[in-house]
Amino acid sequence: MQRVRTPLLVRATPSPTSPLLPDTAHKRIPDDSHKRHVRVNGTDVPLHAPGVVRGSDLKAAGLRVYDPGLANTLSCTSSITAIDGNKGILSHRGYRLEELVQFTSYTEVAHLLVRGALPSRKQFEIWTSLVHAAPSLTAARAAVRALPRDAHPMGALVCALAATGAHEHSPMQDTVHSREDSAVAVLRAMPALAAAVLRHSRGARTQFLRLPREGVNWSAARRFLYLVEPALVSGSGARARVAAVDALLIVHADHEQNCSTAALRHLASSGVDVFSAVAGATAALYGPLHGGASEAVVRMLGRVGGVDGVHTFINRVKEGRERLMGFGHRVYKNYDPRARIIGALVKDVIREARGNRVLLDVAQKIEEVALKDEYFVRRKLFPNVDFYSGLVYLSMGFQPTAFPVMFALGRCAGWIAHWLEFMDDSSKRIVRPHQIYVGEMGPRVVVPMGERDDAELLPWTKSRQAKL
Ligand code: SDX
Repeated sequence: MQRVRTPLLVRATPSPTSPLLPDTAHKRIPDDSHKRHVRVNGTDVPLHAPGVVRGSDLKAAGLRVYDPGLANTLSCTSSITAIDGNKGILSHRGYRLEELVQFTSYTEVAHLLVRGALPSRKQFEIWTSLVHAAPSLTAARAAVRALPRDAHPMGALVCALAATGAHEHSPMQDTVHSREDSAVAVLRAMPALAAAVLRHSRGARTQFLRLPREGVNWSAARRFLYLVEPALVSGSGARARVAAVDALLIVHADHEQNCSTAALRHLASSGVDVFSAVAGATAALYGPLHGGASEAVVRMLGRVGGVDGVHTFINRVKEGRERLMGFGHRVYKNYDPRARIIGALVKDVIREARGNRVLLDVAQKIEEVALKDEYFVRRKLFPNVDFYSGLVYLSMGFQPTAFPVMFALGRCAGWIAHWLEFMDDSSKRIVRPHQIYVGEMGPRVVVPMGERDDAELLPWTKSRQAKL
């Protein structure tokens, strides 16, 4: 039987030291590997790439794949971001994240993701004139103001994006020109919407502030912080705050087919407008297993009971009575490189802001204990991007409910890059998976209501879904 080779992570033409392919990459894969077959169900199924078969070829062989959470499914090809989960390496169009954080700005990284290259000086000026232009906020203004002040800002952001989509963008935009206009419209609007929902949740009289004229030349981070609260970009600590937010926006910019980006592509496949698709992606990011984890981590750290409570807390996690939020990842089976960057950042910011170290000390103690504990080592559970990020925002005075909004602000560039890539993909189809039906086969006879006995009903908390 033909041995199936290590699954291909990306279709890149790697240099032997390329981070984009798994460890075996340096053992050159013979050119004709895609012509190899794997024998399944008595049929030769062609390998589309090393370790990869096409669903349509499996279907032709009379087979389907049952894959909850799509944990072993490659849903598309993409040239935007690559993760080497075993090595803990994250690259955007071939640039390592660490280099991008150290040598570029979020606006440059957004250009890299969306337009495909780090911009020249002239391209950067054209780009900033596009994305820094005044956004159209008519519908969003009405939507945000209509919400109660204690509405979660992430839910408010979903509303503001959906309202803008409903009012200013129609589905079925199939010309590349209008697509680019829509894409830029989202990038223009997101900082203003994110800032407004945070101001709304803090009870500010005016949700939408105007930037001063010179703001057109400011960085994305400085513009955003001004729109949240002008005092954040002045006085002592302003430079450190702006630098930290810029780094965090880069760190959160894109991450392959994560839950919210996959949701965005799913929504885009029906032809809906990009604002509605980004609203859906924002809703997916809101969940505590995804971007909402940054908020859940800080709440969790507050429950541990200080450094002395860490061992008891870790035992509760191992007994299944707690989940260690900010730990674990579907792809990284090594330290998330973003957690390493943010972990270093948080110490600087807290020192600069003379912030409260108590929660940071608890977080560092949890990391120290977990990384030596067999439960976490065997499951390859390491800190992920959400473990330390909230502590940075907290030291800047942001509320925990603001953390996923900051995540969405950074991820917006990745979502737009994936939306444009999807819309341009000649193999795109509307997403419509199948299922395995495990219910009553019937046909059952309808009994008139008057003759029906009380039936045994499904318990609300669990279905009778059979475990396969
Ligand atoms: C993000 O995909 C992305 O790229 C996402 C993201 C991005 O940039 O877009 O990186 C951002 O969402 C980061 C993840 C944030 N979420 C959390 O921190 C929540 C806590 N982590 C998890 O719930 C979990 O690790 C996930 C959701 C991140 C991954 O879930 P998987 O891949 O489905 O793993 P699993 O739930 O099947 O867990 C495998 C095992 C299980 O134990 P056993 O059944 O084998 O005994 O590991 C255990 C789990 O119980 N486990 C954990 C754990 N995560 C997994 N146990 C305790 N604490 C945890 N955090």
